[in-house]
Amino acid sequence: MKELLAIKSDFNRIDEWAEAFADMDIEICLWDEIDDPSTIDYALVWVPEAGALHRFENLKIIFSIGAGLDHLMGPGVLPPNIPVVRMVEDTLTAGMVEYVLYNVLRFHRFMPEYEKNHRRKSWDAILQIPAEQRTVGILGLGVLGQACARVIADLGFNVVGWSRTEKHLDRITSTFGDEQLDEFLAKSEILVCLLPLTRQTRGIINQRTLSKLPNGAYLINAGRGGHQIEVDILSALESGQLAGAALDVFEVEPLPVHSPLWTHANVTITPHVASMTTPFSSAKHVYENIQRFRRSEPLTHLADMEKGY
Ligand code: NAP
Ligand code: GLV
Repeated sequence: MKELLAIKSDFNRIDEWAEAFADMDIEICLWDEIDDPSTIDYALVWVPEAGALHRFENLKIIFSIGAGLDHLMGPGVLPPNIPVVRMVEDTLTAGMVEYVLYNVLRFHRFMPEYEKNHRRKSWDAILQIPAEQRTVGILGLGVLGQACARVIADLGFNVVGWSRTEKHLDRITSTFGDEQLDEFLAKSEILVCLLPLTRQTRGIINQRTLSKLPNGAYLINAGRGGHQIEVDILSALESGQLAGAALDVFEVEPLPVHSPLWTHANVTITPHVASMTTPFSSAKHVYENIQRFRRSEPLTHLADMEKGY
């Protein structure tokens, strides 16, 4: 009998998941169509309800559909002592690189201003700043942060990253720890957030940290909405401390219709789509780890529950 993987996916993509797992010796079943919870070996989930995973008494691995894990950290969501694996795979990474690079270039080349000028039939030119005179700061130099940093550095930008531990990366300046956060911020003319949401990083984009950026900086948040204090972003936009923001994630999602962020002229909103998990590529990452488990080999991209990411 084949092992069973229960999937709780968003966007109703079960047909795509079924096709992606079709050639693998694993059977998949829908969250709402589980006959006998004791037959479930693995679970692939986005946001399960508290207690839902505890029903699977023979569960071996929990796979997060996302790279982030904060959605699994709520009270009563994770059963004890079951390994949790993050989603880390090339297509998800490539999507994030596209999103971040697109927005860095958009701000760097003043496209929001040109879009406004276009509507006014204005021929005004803004003096171009060479990439080597612009510094992009990346909060979080993990899988996604490093991939973005490399591509941005390839285009000639100065890139500085901030992480918990020191990094030694070609062409990327490493800053780390709370003591070096302000030094990092002072350099970041375009600030990109690719941190995981943890107790330490919640609310990190706030009045204090925004005030440390060079005046007229840009913000790109593709981490989590919990990283940003939205009223502080609005104040920084009003004062000109921030010249623009591209926000993909929000404290409350969907962003409530009454949020002033929706209508702010210098804000671009996307609905948490900076990078989306795709079944065809993600299934390989899940299956590889299942095979490792079967061979009693260490799993890859295991969540560290102590660190929270
Ligand atoms: P990752 O590989 O775990 O990297 C996390 C990075 O953040 C690491 O460099 C880590 O430092 C750093 N970090 C964590 N806590 C910190 C702290 N307290 N102070 C300083 N640095 C800290 O994660 P990833 O795969 O790159 O993903 C990052 C996040 O992107 C996810 O957690 C998720 O929230 C978000 N995401 C969003 C979307 C979207 O569509 N919007 C899609 C995918 C992912 P160390 O390297 O020193 O450990
Ligand atoms: C999406 O937000 C993810 O964490 O992959």
